[in-house]
Amino acid sequence: MKIIAVYSSKGGVGKTAAAVNLSYASSCRGKKTLLCDMDPQGAASYYYRVRAKGKFNKKQFLKGNLEKNIRQSDYPNLDLLPAHFSFRNLDLSLEKGKSNELKKIFSSLAEEYDALIIDCPPNISLLSQNIIIAADQVLSPVIPTTLSIRALAQLIKFFDKIGANRKKLRAFFSMVERRKNMHVETVRSYRKKKVFLRTLIPYLADVEKMGITRAPVGATHSGSPSAVAYDRLWMEISKRKAMS
Ligand SMILES: Nc1ncnc2c1ncn2[C@@H]1O[C@H](COP(=O)(O)OP(=O)(O)O)[C@@H](O)[C@H]1O
Ligand SMILES: [Mg+2]
Repeated sequence: MKIIAVYSSKGGVGKTAAAVNLSYASSCRGKKTLLCDMDPQGAASYYYRVRAKGKFNKKQFLKGNLEKNIRQSDYPNLDLLPAHFSFRNLDLSLEKGKSNELKKIFSSLAEEYDALIIDCPPNISLLSQNIIIAADQVLSPVIPTTLSIRALAQLIKFFDKIGANRKKLRAFFSMVERRKNMHVETVRSYRKKKVFLRTLIPYLADVEKMGITRAPVGATHSGSPSAVAYDRLWMEISKRKAMS
């Protein structure tokens, strides 16, 4: 099982949109996929119309009681571990100084799934540290603006600080608008850097509409530019050595 965490310290950069659509792309490509919603706001769970079972909460999660709380999505090969509001302070319950607790928790799923995709909350915390250590790849959406590039630079420093392997970090440009000069210029200057994947995700109305359709773009707009972009992004990630 490969663990891919969609992470950024910034909110509103397209993490949830990516986690939802990449998990769908992965399942369509025949991989048994689990989308784990770690953001207490539960947007990924909402998009997939899935809610946590009555007793599922932070305590259950930390005890590793995952399997019985996993829910099926409406799509073949794709399951969800929904978020719970109590996840907002998961951080406080992780043991100080330990960064491998999540890795242990997820290891029980290794036989069942080919891919585990994590939709992360936006902050830099002990939880993020645990997620980064557990992940085989950390995928970070970057809106092509100065501040987002800065957040990526900070993330690279954070990797060094916690002793995580920089090689597992990959960024992609997210919500790219061609009519904005700053976007075009930023993409041009940074795209060739090793940390960036080639695929970029344009700003597209289909993605915004997921809030209404409550389905991944591939399910409602199969073959559309948005669905194709996420599928390409998935193919680029899954081709990487760490994924084989
Ligand atoms: N490629 C895109 N094109 C248009 N809107 C997008 C795109 N990606 C995300 N959005 C919208 O931007 C907002 C923030 O995206 P979201 O994925 O929730 O970000 P995050 O999880 O990083 O906070 C949402 O309203 C979402 O619908
Ligand atoms: Mg989100």
